[in-house]
Amino acid sequence: MNAKQPAWLADAIFYQIYPQSFYDANGDGIGDFQGIIEKLDYVKDLGCNALWLNPCFASPFGDAGYDISDYYTTAERYGTNDDLKRLFDETHRRGMHILLDLVPGHTSIEHKWFRESMKAEKNEYTHRYIWTDSIWEEPEGMGCIRGFSDRDGSCAVNFFSHQPALNYGFYKPDKPWQQSTDDEGPRATLEELKNIMRFWLKIGCDGFRVDMAGSLVKHDEDGKGTIKLWQNVRAFLDAEFPSAAMVSEWGEPDKSLQGGFHMDFLLHFGPSHYNDLFRCEEPYFSARGKGDISEFVAKYIENYEKAGRRGLICIPSGNHDMDRLSRLLHGTELKLAFAFLLSMPGAPFLYYGDEIGMRYVSGLTSVEGGYGRTGSRTPMQWDDTANAGFSRAPEEKLYIRTDAEPDRPTVKSQIADSNSLYHEVKRLIAIRRSHKALQNMGEIEFVYARKNTYPFAYLRSAEDEHILVVLNPSGEEVSFRYKYTPKEAIYTLGGEISREQGMLVVPPQSAGYYAVNP
Ligand code: NOJ
Ligand code: CA
Repeated sequence: MNAKQPAWLADAIFYQIYPQSFYDANGDGIGDFQGIIEKLDYVKDLGCNALWLNPCFASPFGDAGYDISDYYTTAERYGTNDDLKRLFDETHRRGMHILLDLVPGHTSIEHKWFRESMKAEKNEYTHRYIWTDSIWEEPEGMGCIRGFSDRDGSCAVNFFSHQPALNYGFYKPDKPWQQSTDDEGPRATLEELKNIMRFWLKIGCDGFRVDMAGSLVKHDEDGKGTIKLWQNVRAFLDAEFPSAAMVSEWGEPDKSLQGGFHMDFLLHFGPSHYNDLFRCEEPYFSARGKGDISEFVAKYIENYEKAGRRGLICIPSGNHDMDRLSRLLHGTELKLAFAFLLSMPGAPFLYYGDEIGMRYVSGLTSVEGGYGRTGSRTPMQWDDTANAGFSRAPEEKLYIRTDAEPDRPTVKSQIADSNSLYHEVKRLIAIRRSHKALQNMGEIEFVYARKNTYPFAYLRSAEDEHILVVLNPSGEEVSFRYKYTPKEAIYTLGGEISREQGMLVVPPQSAGYYAVNP
């Protein structure tokens, strides 16, 4: 079941905001809704027209808010529900859209549902989570919390051991304590999930990024049970909120889009080969020129064919779970990475700060369950004032300390430098937004993507517009055979391609978008 795309997704370019670290308006050392409101014009000016906000709900913050204790109330540190509504309104006033983060797979152990479910007496929440019926039996392959409930049983966890798994049932239950997806407990969990979505959509959010969307039904190897569950959600959305957008953290677009999601992420885990691009020993976008794009492309084509034309495969620049894009790439390499990210189909997702090349900060003590991810979650660097302009709080009160390097990039310094990454990203976004062929629904055909070889070329098309994208991240001049002669250049970086004896010659460390008439 493919969902009908909300019209605004056709040219949506998302900007991901980790609310803790974006902008602290009230000076307590942590980002907040008011801070985001004050920086909306910055995001809009960059050219992004949509936001994804990491979880901003009540939580003990053992996993940066992915451990929710109340889905219906914002975390005080960011502001009230009314403040969040103001953020929705301010976003909309600027012609932009905003997605919240939906965490359907688990809660915090502090959630009242979990406290109730730990009780020995049966109650409304007894089956809200996955419990075995004896403390001595552990739910196989899932990890569990045990030994602190009156209830005799072990509770399955979904991620960290303080994140008990909500019960959506088992695909094929084979133990007495395993419920089927049609049992009352799992059905009630699903209805509650819809209530949560309804609550925030009514207040004015435009949809959700869904955490671990493929994990809900257990022992569901092919994802069939989980796909069916999301189809049920799709029917609800079609009936009540047809223009809400849904993007899954699943990493298997064929499954996710069948479940009625509009978009799925390619991720740094799973089968996508996403890491071959930017995050491996020899990334394709490194000037060393020792990378390989071919497996990424093979997998992409497989997904693209299976996913059909209507769903979007989204390639993020980064996110709060992976190393910063700039950990292994620098200078022109980063610009070339964006020339790729902003010319692929699917909705682009820019992680806050990637547009200025914010660095991965090594050596930080874990904050709120971030561990190695903490270095990708440091405060946004706005200017050259204290705390890089993120907060007026004393340095020791900051949620995570800022990058301490004297040459850390800032928005201010990058805006002042016409040759900066910021300006390149802005230029690329503007070009994408003015050419349908480059946008989210435009088609792609890979022209040149050979094993251990540069360049990398593909054709983007929509209606009768065709644009050839040629990327050569390597430091060497390279060439390839292409039967059509590119016409004018729409975008170039590092020089234009030239035609020599039937070959297209591509300058070192260059990117170009060219109109063609195939
Ligand atoms: C994926 C989220 O992106 C990550 O930050 C979180 O820790 C896990 N899911 C658990 O919710
Ligand atoms: Ca604050």
